[in-house]
Amino acid sequence: MKPLINIVLIGFMGTGKSTVGKRLAKILDWEFIDTDAAIEELTGCSVTDLFRLHGETRFRSEEALLVKRLSEQKGCIIATGGGTVLNPENWELLAEHGILVQLYATVETILERVGARPNTRPLLKGSREMIEALWEARQETYAKAHMVVDTTEKDIEEVAGEILVRLEGKVDGSFELAKD
Ligand code: S3P
Repeated sequence: MKPLINIVLIGFMGTGKSTVGKRLAKILDWEFIDTDAAIEELTGCSVTDLFRLHGETRFRSEEALLVKRLSEQKGCIIATGGGTVLNPENWELLAEHGILVQLYATVETILERVGARPNTRPLLKGSREMIEALWEARQETYAKAHMVVDTTEKDIEEVAGEILVRLEGKVDGSFELAKD
């Protein structure tokens, strides 16, 4: 039976949304959608170039457009960009059929993880203070997720496994959101 929900991974850059999402999709045999990759495919432009050539506003409108398109889908693992759910309309659309799972990591851990490739993330090019301020400003929103998974000192397998175990209490046998 086709699942009636999506699993939507949210959280700050570098928390492992894409890698964990791919792993979950493989385990469950669900479709995997990475919003950044989908935007790049639709626009023919890398996220870096969208920011550089057209500005963040253009990127956010492409992102919102994509989320609208995705809102009818079910049975997908969706890895969002770190800023996607900060737009309340995006949150609402993704939560309509989706269980929102926040992948959490401290700034320290995030900087260690992305240290080698900050160039692919325009918003990580600023100073450490700027990144910390961005991280702090976003935590309140991320924390409203249906489930928060601390990824500190866990590998992909452990994070994916924890999500699946904890989902059992939140979805019924046909992967529909369980009623409270
Ligand atoms: C962003 C996160 C990025 C990407 C863009 C903006 C953000 O995705 O969408 O650079 O605002 O946090 P990742 O979280 O996958 O790095």
